[in-house]
Amino acid sequence: MNPIVIATNNPNKIREIHAILDGAFEVKGLRDIGCTEELPETTGTIPGNAVQKAQYVFDHYGVDCFAEDTGLEIDALNGEPGVDTAHYAGPERDPIANMDLVLRQLDGRDDRSARFRTVIALIMGGELHLFEGVAEGRIAYERTGQGGFGYDPVFIPEGYDQSFAVLPSIVKQTISHRAKAVEKLKTFLMKR
Ligand code: IMP
Repeated sequence: MNPIVIATNNPNKIREIHAILDGAFEVKGLRDIGCTEELPETTGTIPGNAVQKAQYVFDHYGVDCFAEDTGLEIDALNGEPGVDTAHYAGPERDPIANMDLVLRQLDGRDDRSARFRTVIALIMGGELHLFEGVAEGRIAYERTGQGGFGYDPVFIPEGYDQSFAVLPSIVKQTISHRAKAVEKLKTFLMKR
């Protein structure tokens, strides 16, 4: 099988995806194919952005590739931040500011239920395939922990009492939105 390009420059995502694929496939980064530009994500939906990023790499570099897009959906905020998760508190995409805005928005709210949703768009042999992973959970009352990245310090996955940033990384690697989506991708690729 030809190597597959992971269409992201986010080192945290690359680390987590590598850990789950566990050497089962040869994967390359965008730098390996000479792609240093920012990938477009302007469709307004999570699946749309995943497809847009993968399609961009396929159209410009002609390689098999996959891109992922992730959003945090909070029920008490009608599904926000959703597709705006990365820049919820502003264009700086600052994770602390993003989390603090979420905590302020939920101030005094009892319903803390939320989920992370990841969509992976794979383009292989010119065909598009989508894989989704969802992690249900709740928003904590404060930030805790140093592990993970993004909103991990305020997200407590279902069945646990600590945030993804406190729990051992093997837990996130096993039950997260990204882990579920990547497992589906891996199963698909192993059948090819
Ligand atoms: P994007 O998929 O790169 O657009 O990321 C959307 C936003 O979600 C960014 O603010 C990320 O930091 C955040 N994010 C993505 N994946 C995770 C995760 O696994 N845990 C916590 N935050 C995440």
